[in-house]
Amino acid sequence: MRLYRAKDYNDMSRKAANIISAQIILKPDCVLGLATGSTPIGTYQQLIARYQEGDLDFSQVRTANLDEYRGLTRDNDQSYYYFMYHNLFKEVNIDMANTNIPDGTNPDSAAEAARYDQVIRDLGGVDLQLLGMGHNGHIGFNEPSDAFDKGTHCVDLQPSTIEANKRFFASIDDVPKQAYTMGIQTIMSARKILLLVSGAEKAEILHKALCGPITPHVPASVLQLHNDVTVVADEAALSKFDQ
Ligand code: GLP
Repeated sequence: MRLYRAKDYNDMSRKAANIISAQIILKPDCVLGLATGSTPIGTYQQLIARYQEGDLDFSQVRTANLDEYRGLTRDNDQSYYYFMYHNLFKEVNIDMANTNIPDGTNPDSAAEAARYDQVIRDLGGVDLQLLGMGHNGHIGFNEPSDAFDKGTHCVDLQPSTIEANKRFFASIDDVPKQAYTMGIQTIMSARKILLLVSGAEKAEILHKALCGPITPHVPASVLQLHNDVTVVADEAALSKFDQ
């Protein structure tokens, strides 16, 4: 595991964009696993700027997003489809046919999970998986539980996740209670993983995830078992490492 210490959120975003840019330049038709949340927004802005400067070409890039709220349509401004379209896809020359996100409107969770796992297999797997981390250590929407989930599945979101994500919705009642997410095995099958963490409120859980026991109660702790993980975290998020 490589750990890069960034000064702040902007520095973290720049360093992350450097790594993703290198991946795209070295393999123009790479498969990027993409994430949502506030953490990667700065990284996407950096990637857009590099595209605009003529340094990056997304025309052959293929993507598979980690997760999607169950029940939200693509045009709902809180759906992860909407997030990806507005924060990255519409700003670069990616072919939308090459982008993949779980379908939150599929009411058949088993069918959607099987379909999405097949999509990832058909892509030949993920070359570089970008991850943020929830306050409880979740990755994608793999919430703390007694066992690591394998493939794509439907999850019941924990109250703390609903609470953390309510800031994006008109009220807490509007936050979906379920989501489709890649499983831990899907995430661990990526050839490379890039975990981004920013802010003091994630310091304790980041320390647990990287230095504590590997347990499904801290889903991100499983990353200790992957052989190509890069963590870019800012000083605030790394404060527990200094003690
Ligand atoms: C959501 C997403 C995760 C993300 C997490 C953290 O729950 N499903 O993929 O990592 O939020 O979000 P933020 O980056 O806003 O702290």
